Amino acid sequence: MKLFLDTGDIAEVEKAAEWGVLDGVTTNPTLIAKTGRGFRETVLDICRAVPNGAISAEVVATDYEGILREAQEISSWHPQVVVKVPLIRDGVRAVSELASRGIRTNVTLVFSVTQALMAAKAGATFISNFVGRVDDISGEGMVAVAESVQMIETYGFDSEVLVASIRHPQHVVDAIRAGAHISTMPFSVMNALFNHPLTDIGLKRFLDDWNAAGLEIFEGALKT
Ligand code: E4P
Repeated sequence: MKLFLDTGDIAEVEKAAEWGVLDGVTTNPTLIAKTGRGFRETVLDICRAVPNGAISAEVVATDYEGILREAQEISSWHPQVVVKVPLIRDGVRAVSELASRGIRTNVTLVFSVTQALMAAKAGATFISNFVGRVDDISGEGMVAVAESVQMIETYGFDSEVLVASIRHPQHVVDAIRAGAHISTMPFSVMNALFNHPLTDIGLKRFLDDWNAAGLEIFEGALKT
């Protein structure tokens, strides 16, 4: 499963990129607005920080012509850019046209398998299935993810199911179990994926035993 960071914060992107496990970044208008910086410069900085990563940048137009115009502009910024388009009728129509022009898209605000079907048929590169926002209102966000993954596999669509609106590591566990292609998450959640108390306890014991025995890896080397 690919791991994306869901942020507009370049410091977070650089930190996660250092770990060597980052496949891409998703942004949305809210996240970009939070940076207090320009849209284009932020997206270009993220592209530089994650060479070869897929960087999603979202349109704000809601009509067919407007979406196409913005998508053309945003995709011209960098070859790594994937244009994020909302799952509305004009959006799906635009995704179909963009696919025929060879422009990669990420269809966002998807909450059901029928919406995912429309995105897949239009030729979406990624289908962003939001889970946290459904769980927030007592739903089961991961159900649509599992159904969408099965739908993609059953009919052989090329789209990848991207689990979005992730709130905690258990959502990542559930995304793995559903066989999702990608998970995008806040930095705090990705950072937490490393953690296990038995790792900390185990490492401490190994090092204590090693040091108590007075062992060295570089035997004979001068200590500094
Ligand atoms: C997806 O790409 C969205 O940017 C994001 O995951 C939305 O998450 P939220 O529900 O935490 O705003």
